[in-house]
Amino acid sequence: MAEQKPVWMQSEETSELTAIPLLQILSGIYASKTLAAAVEFDLFTKIAETGGTFEEVAAILELELRPVEMLMSGCAALGLLERREGRFYNSALSDTYLIAGKPDYFGPMILMADRRVYEPWLHLTEALKTNRALTWGSQPGLFEALSSNPDEQRMFTRAMHAVSLRSGTSMAKALDLSNYRCLMDVGGGSGAYCIEAVRHCPTLRAVVFDLSSALEVARQNIKEAGFSDRIETIPGDFFLEALPKGSDLILLSMILHDWSPGKNLTILRKCMDALEPSGSIIISELMMDDDKTGPLPAAMMSLCMLIDTEGRNYTWSEYTAWLEEVGFTDVRRIPIHSPGANGLLVGRKP
Ligand SMILES: C[S@@+](CC[C@H](N)C(=O)[O-])C[C@H]1O[C@@H](n2cnc3c(N)ncnc32)[C@H](O)[C@@H]1O
Repeated sequence: MAEQKPVWMQSEETSELTAIPLLQILSGIYASKTLAAAVEFDLFTKIAETGGTFEEVAAILELELRPVEMLMSGCAALGLLERREGRFYNSALSDTYLIAGKPDYFGPMILMADRRVYEPWLHLTEALKTNRALTWGSQPGLFEALSSNPDEQRMFTRAMHAVSLRSGTSMAKALDLSNYRCLMDVGGGSGAYCIEAVRHCPTLRAVVFDLSSALEVARQNIKEAGFSDRIETIPGDFFLEALPKGSDLILLSMILHDWSPGKNLTILRKCMDALEPSGSIIISELMMDDDKTGPLPAAMMSLCMLIDTEGRNYTWSEYTAWLEEVGFTDVRRIPIHSPGANGLLVGRKP
């Protein structure tokens, strides 16, 4: 695998063995907090048109000059701002992903991580010792906790949308969806994948199946995208009831990493029962390499699952074995490149 270093760890290469890489790993939280603070102050949106000097930005953000200089220098060093002739401008990365209101705005994910994910990460050793989730109250579980708190449910589902929108685009480009009539996205959350699938395939219809508490954001997104006539939302619980029938393509995106192997087999059997004969199933995830040494985004997401859920990010081979155990055939591996997924597994119902 190609080496994937986070941006704050990309520095001059040297053959000398030093503790610098350890300090870089350790300072991951400094980089995260710099990004989150800049997004919280909406720095990138506020200077999008004009750029700004230290003094101008201090005035815009209503902060003192000293901290603003430090924040902007940090953002420049992280590749989020660029300095030209004394003024700071958004880099291409910030211009595309950090401006509120743009379609690819990543702010909801950054703010959710900052507000809800980092604190439990500080107690990682406890999760390692107890093999139990720590976040969102964790009793009885992440999704029950979200269901009973509409604000947190909205924050979570909007964050997932920011992560999954371009995973949906990657899926729609990687597969020939015109071979299918109806896609059902099981645990489809914000509707991101269905929206991108129907956008890319004019003959496709889609269904977002999820807990009713998650579907408010999905309905809003589907309406704003102009697809209310082609994407339906169906509330339900994939542990308590059978999945709706009538789809010839079923998607599970970032679902199986939430659950134990036994529960994943239950979900996959329900997908098998619901799917039309000769239909296909897609698993979209940050897949772990079969030797469990990475890649880095999947390994880090897996530890997030330790903190958040009873699952983990499984390997390509583990997902494949479960698909075959419940009767799917012709399982194909399709690598993709997106924040929420590095690969698709596609299997066929005989
Ligand atoms: C990590 S999110 C993934 C959302 C979406 N598939 C994506 O990739 O953006 C997990 C989703 O599973 C849904 N979910 C959790 N438990 C569920 C259940 N028992 N039945 C149906 N959906 C469930 C959650 O509401 C949430 O939308």
